[in-house]
Amino acid sequence: MRLRITAAAVAALAVAAAGLALWTRAEPIAPVDPPAAAAAPAVLAAGARVVALGDCMVCHTARGGAAYAGGLGLDTPFGTIYSTNITPDPETGIGRWSAQAFRRALREGVSRDGHLLYPAFPYIHTTRMSDADIEASYHYLMSREPVRATPPDNALVLPLNFRPLLAFWNMLYLRPGDAGIPARQATPLERGRYLVDTLGHCASCHSGMNLLGGERHPPFQGGNIDGWDAPALTRLTGGAAPWTQAELVDYLRGGLSGAHGAAKGPMRPVTERLAGVPREDVDAMAAYLMSIQDAGPAAAPAAAPTPPSADLSADLPGRRLFAAACAGCHAPAAPMMRVDGRPGLARSSAVLGERPDNFVQTVLHGIPWETGSKVYMPPFADTLSDAQVAELAAYVRTGLAGRAAWPDTATKSATLRKETPQ
Ligand code: HEC
Ligand code: HEC
Ligand code: HEC
Repeated sequence: MRLRITAAAVAALAVAAAGLALWTRAEPIAPVDPPAAAAAPAVLAAGARVVALGDCMVCHTARGGAAYAGGLGLDTPFGTIYSTNITPDPETGIGRWSAQAFRRALREGVSRDGHLLYPAFPYIHTTRMSDADIEASYHYLMSREPVRATPPDNALVLPLNFRPLLAFWNMLYLRPGDAGIPARQATPLERGRYLVDTLGHCASCHSGMNLLGGERHPPFQGGNIDGWDAPALTRLTGGAAPWTQAELVDYLRGGLSGAHGAAKGPMRPVTERLAGVPREDVDAMAAYLMSIQDAGPAAAPAAAPTPPSADLSADLPGRRLFAAACAGCHAPAAPMMRVDGRPGLARSSAVLGERPDNFVQTVLHGIPWETGSKVYMPPFADTLSDAQVAELAAYVRTGLAGRAAWPDTATKSATLRKETPQ
């Protein structure tokens, strides 16, 4: 009896799954011959700008791999998803995709052959890209070097490796874009909104995720990605170190604000791409961010932080460790601090934040050096124990920034060391 019920249940499930697969199947779009000639230079230049603002290369390039050839593993709570090859290689890339197939992928999250794409690809944001931007990015990608490369197989937990289930997810979270978008970019503020909400998909890290992997509402209340806290973007002008619009522009374009600190972890590649786009675009993003602040735009430039009390810092065990390992760069008189008007650590959200995560990540993993960057910090994962990281955190947080120490920093260090090995 039990067996028969189980068999019936399995049969019912199989029928349901088959029905679902049929219902959620999108039509394939026929392959086309690759375009014979490259698009006009103006279109390619526009496409390069769109692709930089949309971070396409960041996700579609594996560490040390060829640009746009895919294969970067994105860790999600449901397993690892690998980005695909979007070079114009006819066999393994998008060389035989028509502009229509490309547009459908960005608007609806459907691949050329009809299979549904995982939302690790931020199509819930690219769905609102303008037609002109989609077209320009298509031609730009088609003009790149074709690379023959196939990403590794995804490693997802059951039943999420069954793509038709994504149809339900799309019903909940996909609001397909409409064609009226360009009209809404008439003012710098509208342009900024488009760049932050749509192309820049800033919410995919700064909003946090719910249990189904959807973005939390209201947006920009802060999230966690790859073990890093992505701070709320609606509270930049409140708090101990308020941001001004000009400081945001420096940070977003150069990866370093002289008043706050450097972009680190997953934010760093975002700023590297933004370094190459026209300044007016970053100005527009910063203006839009200022317009969504809970506390309203910052009225005056940020006030100087209270100087650390020597007495307070004197008896903290982390002080000597800091002098030995960190002061060579971070002491007020260190050579690094005198160029470019660098901020003291006490103004960084990695030190002022509610949680120690970004402090610990920065100390363990450092800030990798990039060509042309003014910012480099060595990783300390191999030289400092978790207890030492916690001592340093207590010294910097209490002794330098005058705040209550974080609890359990050593445990956090042990966890993050294990979860994000480099
Ligand atoms: C946050 C990471 C991320 C960003 C940013 C991103 N992609 Fe992707 N993209 C992915 C992943 C992951 C996939 C594969 C999804 C899957 O296999 O289900 C993908 C798939 C695609 C596909 C479908 C390819 C195929 O063979 O089915 C296209 C086209 C694409 N991306 C284009 C773009 C463009 C253009 C941009 C920039 C505007 C972009 N992507 C930005 C992660 C990203
Ligand atoms: C070789 C120089 C160097 C050393 C040594 C060094 N750092 Fe850094 N650190 C940097 C640079 C560069 C930055 C980026 C900020 C900047 O450029 O002003 C940074 C940033 C940071 C930040 C984040 C501040 C921000 O920009 O948001 C923290 C926290 C930090 N360091 C802690 C430490 C600690 C703790 C030590 C000692 C274990 C240490 N650093 C050693 C160079 C160094
Ligand atoms: C891949 C994930 C990711 C994306 C996409 C992303 N961010 Fe971030 N962002 C982070 C993380 C993580 C931090 C914290 C890193 C640090 O403090 O160095 C951060 C820090 C910031 C900060 C500094 C906040 C503070 O209080 O110190 C600003 C401003 C910011 N991001 C704006 C943006 C904007 C605007 C976009 C869209 C163009 C964006 N971010 C896209 C992950 C991301």
